[in-house]
Amino acid sequence: MERTLERIVSGLETSDGAGVKLTRLIGQELHARLDPFLMLDFFRNIDPEDYIAGFPDHPHRGFETVTYMLAGRMRHRDNKGNEGLLESGSVQWMTAGRGIVHSEMPEQEDGLMEGFQLWINLPSTRKMGDPWYRDIPASGFPAFTANSGAKIKVIAGKIEDVEGAMTREDTEPIYLDVDLPEGADHSVSIPSSHNAFIVPYHGDIEVSGKILPEKMLGILSKGDAVRLKADAPARLILVAGKPLKEPVVQYGPFVMNTQEEIFQALADFRSGHL
Ligand code: CO
Repeated sequence: MERTLERIVSGLETSDGAGVKLTRLIGQELHARLDPFLMLDFFRNIDPEDYIAGFPDHPHRGFETVTYMLAGRMRHRDNKGNEGLLESGSVQWMTAGRGIVHSEMPEQEDGLMEGFQLWINLPSTRKMGDPWYRDIPASGFPAFTANSGAKIKVIAGKIEDVEGAMTREDTEPIYLDVDLPEGADHSVSIPSSHNAFIVPYHGDIEVSGKILPEKMLGILSKGDAVRLKADAPARLILVAGKPLKEPVVQYGPFVMNTQEEIFQALADFRSGHL
């Protein structure tokens, strides 16, 4: 059965970190519908005033963060001594597990900074696991051009027998960047077990016959495939994941199953144990 556009969400214009302007496309109100996804931010800023302050030291516990840089440079440092530079086209996949304190700071003084940050939940059994992260350079992604002309970069999961750069257990995420040439008509299979959404970030697209405007989140109905069309060249991300079906209790950068676990996360952070 073909997936259709169940709902279009325009997101919330807000700022986070030390004042980085962004559009929050997935927030707490979509946790239930888009399980295992917790948050999706899109940022596209040309004025350095809107990004230069970055995201100074802050904690995370209980989930994974996936940062996809489309344009710009951002340096990551954490309290375990790790450091990495995210450049255009690269992805940082971080499992916060039981806790990490890190900063994400622009390494540019002008020009465009554009990208996405997605938060993916972890099951209760892995929320207190060891933190780790991986930086994947722009050249590190399997990619292919389909018969439709669509160019597909496989960031995570497996699509048409192409294994992505990341494979994760439990939520089995699929994360694709799709480049549609003018007039493209392309179908993508998505496991029917997964919740899925699309965000076109350059140009509008048509999803199973309905227009999804640029910079808007399109939540897909249940089904096993989706049909994407573009009248003019367009680029989008398509993300899907298997729901965890566990209680979600979020307090800012801590996402656990119970209120008690949130109090514990706060206590551990305040006593320097993250
Ligand atoms: Co962070």
